Amino acid sequence: MTKQSALVELTNVSKRYPGVVALDDVTLAFRAGTVTALAGENGAGKSTLIKILSGAVEADSGVVTIGGAPLPRTPGEVIESGISTIYQELTDISEMSVLDNVLLARHSLRWGVLNRKANRRQATAALDRVGLAGLDLGRTVSSLSPAQRQQLEIARCLARNARVLIFDEPTSSLPEGEVEALLQTIKQLRREGLAIIYISHHLEELFAIADDIVVMRDGAVVDQRPVNAWTQPELVRAMLARDLKNAYPWVERSLGPVLLGVKDLVAPGVRSSSLSARASEIVGLVGLDGAGRTELMKAIAGATRPSEGSISLAGAPVRLGSLAHARQLGIVYAPEDRKAEGLILDAPIRDNVVLGLYSLVARLGIVRSRRLGAFARDAVRDYGVKASSIRQVVGGLSGGNQQKVILARVAEGGPRVIMFDDPTRGVDVGAKSSIYEQVIRLAQRGATVLLTSSDTDEVLAMSDRVYVLRAGRIVDEVQRADFNRERILTSASLG
Ligand SMILES: Nc1ncnc2c1ncn2[C@@H]1O[C@H](COP(=O)(O)OP(=O)(O)OP(=O)(O)O)[C@@H](O)[C@H]1O
Ligand SMILES: [Mg+2]
Repeated sequence: MTKQSALVELTNVSKRYPGVVALDDVTLAFRAGTVTALAGENGAGKSTLIKILSGAVEADSGVVTIGGAPLPRTPGEVIESGISTIYQELTDISEMSVLDNVLLARHSLRWGVLNRKANRRQATAALDRVGLAGLDLGRTVSSLSPAQRQQLEIARCLARNARVLIFDEPTSSLPEGEVEALLQTIKQLRREGLAIIYISHHLEELFAIADDIVVMRDGAVVDQRPVNAWTQPELVRAMLARDLKNAYPWVERSLGPVLLGVKDLVAPGVRSSSLSARASEIVGLVGLDGAGRTELMKAIAGATRPSEGSISLAGAPVRLGSLAHARQLGIVYAPEDRKAEGLILDAPIRDNVVLGLYSLVARLGIVRSRRLGAFARDAVRDYGVKASSIRQVVGGLSGGNQQKVILARVAEGGPRVIMFDDPTRGVDVGAKSSIYEQVIRLAQRGATVLLTSSDTDEVLAMSDRVYVLRAGRIVDEVQRADFNRERILTSASLG
């Protein structure tokens, strides 16, 4: 097979931020009809490369071309030139119709009048190509599933004649069961001759759709091979510059008495659920998207107000619906959505790590900055946050590193019950295993851990016991010795 010539080329591209070389002399080519995957640790420079390709960030040096011509300077012109990007978060406008979202700002005008027919034809053609044939053009976008909304975004790119499509961690906003549909759409677009650039920390996705896998480390391209020339351990070694001994460092612990008790709880998204968990125990919550895992955690944390039932800690009742009360007792929740619920993006790591934990570093109401510094430095080290210093502003950290800052904050206050809601979303394979080492460490110290993940295998790998949720209710309970993936998933999905 003759190799297609390059559609997009980067030659000797570099980009620095204060204290860090985000891209280090990168030379790469992306070809039509080819899926190129970018792999690398959190902070390796993947998103920076994408931001340069999409015109959002300007390189310090080097040359970028599309179809042999220099890449235009503004994001709008870059889209016109045929490069579109799908980010992790959806960018659709949820109150508008499908039609308006696909054609966003591109309605065709004829003599100054909207050309309805042409618009509908163009939108329908684009929707067909992403597997949304027959979708009602008048429907509001908020009534679609996350996967459909993402496909709609792809359709929008196609309606703008994209020749190059870039995906930056597209599956982190998708429920587990909807990933396959996205991969099928991407395969279809590859057949149509688009150049696809795909970033994900889920290595099995890369092996499923990539033609080539490029590994970046510390801003540089360190290895690049056709997919068949990689094995998973080799890929991990190239990313981390070391072997990963133990992806899921679960070890057996002796469990203490029951610490958390939940009885007949009814709360927003939770229908009469009861559970108990012991000190030192790691209890997983498994369920499909919308089964109520997050809602159950939020109710226990006091973030929502239960209408019935009771919660107790070491036998003492917990005041329902009080976040402050729950936190005082040591019940804490690490949210799944770090942007909406967790971080102050324009404040430094140091301040974000201690947010809400000032009692640990203050005396008589005065923050002791040495204490604060030491505390933050320990947290950064334990969770492997990659940053130039604890003074670095959190908004400048890569996605995965922001996630680690939240976990450090939640875990370092000495919690008794700690709930991790999809803690490894957007986190690289190496960091994932260090996060789980911290989870084990918390449990060994006597904390009760509740855990969910968008990856069921991960929950099964790390839990001593799981509860299965379906439609807001706990429907099954399984001990580690009896874990059986198929059975658990079946019981999660039976209606
Ligand atoms: N706006 C910014 N200001 C300062 N530093 C930045 C900025 N954007 C990125 N960086 C730094 O550049 C480096 C590369 O970040 P980038 O976001 O490209 O990583 P990534 O490979 O996408 O990581 P992840 O897998 O966590 O998303 C990191 O060290 C990051 O802290
Ligand atoms: Mg990134």
